[in-house]
Amino acid sequence: MKRILITKPCGYGELKIVESPSLKIKKDDEVIVETKYFGVNYSECLIRMGIYKSAKDQSTYPITPGFEFSGIVKEKGKAVKNFKVGEKVFGVVKFNAYATEVKVPENQLFKLPKNLTLEESAGVPVNFLTAHYALINLGNLEKGKKILVHSAGGGVGSAILQLAKEKGAFVVGIVGNKKKIEVAKKFGANKVIDYSQENLWKKAEEFSPEGYDLILEPNGIKTIKESFNHLAPRGKLIVYGFQSMVHVKKNGKVGILNWLKVASKYLKTPKFSPLEMANDNKSVMGFNLSYLFDEKEILKNSVEEIIKLFEKNKILPPKVKVYSFKEVGKSHKALESKMTVGKLVIKI
Ligand SMILES: NC(=O)c1ccc[n+]([C@@H]2O[C@H](COP(=O)([O-])OP(=O)(O)OC[C@H]3O[C@@H](n4cnc5c(N)ncnc54)[C@H](OP(=O)(O)O)[C@@H]3O)[C@@H](O)[C@H]2O)c1
Repeated sequence: MKRILITKPCGYGELKIVESPSLKIKKDDEVIVETKYFGVNYSECLIRMGIYKSAKDQSTYPITPGFEFSGIVKEKGKAVKNFKVGEKVFGVVKFNAYATEVKVPENQLFKLPKNLTLEESAGVPVNFLTAHYALINLGNLEKGKKILVHSAGGGVGSAILQLAKEKGAFVVGIVGNKKKIEVAKKFGANKVIDYSQENLWKKAEEFSPEGYDLILEPNGIKTIKESFNHLAPRGKLIVYGFQSMVHVKKNGKVGILNWLKVASKYLKTPKFSPLEMANDNKSVMGFNLSYLFDEKEILKNSVEEIIKLFEKNKILPPKVKVYSFKEVGKSHKALESKMTVGKLVIKI
């Protein structure tokens, strides 16, 4: 088999494909999948840079990143009941999806939704599970609630728009350039703010003067304080990323972290006062999906609901941009450029 192996924090050009021994079934509930596509996520850029905490907790380098994939069942353990060899599947794994073969326990594997292709399915799990956990498990989203979604033209952002719209929320999407406006509208935003052209917070106040019931925060220092300030009473700020804290070098070894800038942003990141939260009736919550793959019930219930919504055409597959296996570095560079819309996937 072949896989991308990261031996130390590195730039785009050092994401190389290496040969490695084929995977073997060792436990009865395991399934080996011949990968056809895998999804590219901003979190994997952070693994490449060497600052993704859950990667550091689990393993040091060398590491093969990758949280999601689609493909064909190649081999299965004796206890696996729900899948046949040759069947099309998609799934989640805590690392190792950037490879031609992936091994997972049966509960992390799912049948393809009837109306989705292998290409589309590879880009579903991380975005939609992140969106689902944030909106439903943490946000307890109900019809009529007002929500504000940063990076609304991106992978996770466009999934949040769709699930929120499906629940009957009033959704305001925020994007960083003109070409993402139509994408955000297509995926369900009632209103879109393009912060490259208009004053983000003035517009946000115009669309909901009383504040927002839920604000989904992937940016960190750039917007997190103002996001908190724009919550309505009983509002929740759900923090799931810190991308404005990340700075990569643009010259020399491109894609390597500029640690000085990162440290300075880290030190300036706002802290929240429990007194202020209690007095203002506002909450701040956070999560990391990769720690939730072991939560079998949450994973099962969320994926079942997401598949049902796809099959009833209540939500659309992500807009997918396909790169080849040799272009993983290029896909990371694109994702970090802020210019991408929808989801990036790699075709094996
Ligand atoms: N907690 C979790 O479990 C979890 C799971 C999945 C993803 N995430 C997080 O969710 C966020 C979105 O991930 P994604 O894979 O769906 O990416 P994405 O949204 O498709 O792409 C990144 C987008 O973020 C915005 N952005 C703002 N500042 C940026 C910066 N300094 N560098 C790069 N992009 C920046 C840009 O959109 P605009 O120009 O429109 O602002 C850019 O297009 C990331 O922070 C990721 O780490 C967290």
